[in-house]
Amino acid sequence: MQDKILDFLKKKSSGYISGEEISQHLGISRQGLWKHILELKALGYEIIAVPHLGYRLVSIPDRLFPSEISYNLNTKFIGKKIYYFEEVATTMDIALDLGIKQEKEGTIILAEGQTKGKGRLGRSWFSPKYKGIYFSLILRPEVLPQQASLFTLLSGVSVCEAIKLITHIDVQIKWPNDILIHNKKLGGILTELSAEMDKVHFIVIGIGINVNNDKKTLPMNATSLKLKLKENINRIELLKEILRRIEENYFLFKEKQAKIIIEKWKEFNCTLTKRVKIIAHKEHIEGQAQDIDLDGSLLIRCDSGLIRKITAGDVIHCR
Ligand code: BTN
Repeated sequence: MQDKILDFLKKKSSGYISGEEISQHLGISRQGLWKHILELKALGYEIIAVPHLGYRLVSIPDRLFPSEISYNLNTKFIGKKIYYFEEVATTMDIALDLGIKQEKEGTIILAEGQTKGKGRLGRSWFSPKYKGIYFSLILRPEVLPQQASLFTLLSGVSVCEAIKLITHIDVQIKWPNDILIHNKKLGGILTELSAEMDKVHFIVIGIGINVNNDKKTLPMNATSLKLKLKENINRIELLKEILRRIEENYFLFKEKQAKIIIEKWKEFNCTLTKRVKIIAHKEHIEGQAQDIDLDGSLLIRCDSGLIRKITAGDVIHCR
């Protein structure tokens, strides 16, 4: 019912809508409506009530409430179902659990804060409450396990496209999944999967972005959109655009295969052509980052001329 009331208020956001009109349309009493209005106010919605004029929605809270994410989202399957939490240990574990329980493709698990946010290679992901965007997405693509990392690239591209559209900031991707502004980490993507040798059951894509963090709520060498823009960013609009972009790129991938995603990824990348050092499985590999393979791996030309294919690891840009 609260969502329906909000819909009414949003349609008339520039003016007042009478309590009578809302009550009649929704088939509830005026007292019932007032009760819901009080609940919405308690959630942080600023609603003014003026006798003889009615109600007006003045502002919505800076919270990633599912009703706000769903409003005009216009996707076919990404974000159609949202599990929302104030605080969890990590959205990854919840998503993995739901994936095993056959949760539908496109479902997202979203949290305002995480106490044990997970990063790549066993690192942690600092997730202070209400500052960033932290969510995990369940996908069930018909691909081989070796192709799963393509979805990391696809998600990275989607995040960059959304940031560009909403904030006009140019961001870059360091292979495979670091989202950077001027070499400082803005966001990251963690991909986990449940698979057999030749079949992916499901993939969980975890996305973390530093949005409205001040310096004191950021790890060393990290940055946020707010630090760059010097103003708060609407997390709701940014998240919605990321979800739309993921869906669009997912359809593109299905239609035109990996090539198109890799081409898009290359437009944002800051790794290719650089001299890099890779730390993978306790092995150090040095050379020039030459290209991305069709499965998303990084191809390195070593000084001996040998081309090495890197599927996972940490990249250090040398120059
Ligand atoms: C990285 O760059 O190391 C990847 C970071 C991924 C962080 C996100 S936040 C949402 C999801 N839940 C987690 O615990 N991790 C991912």
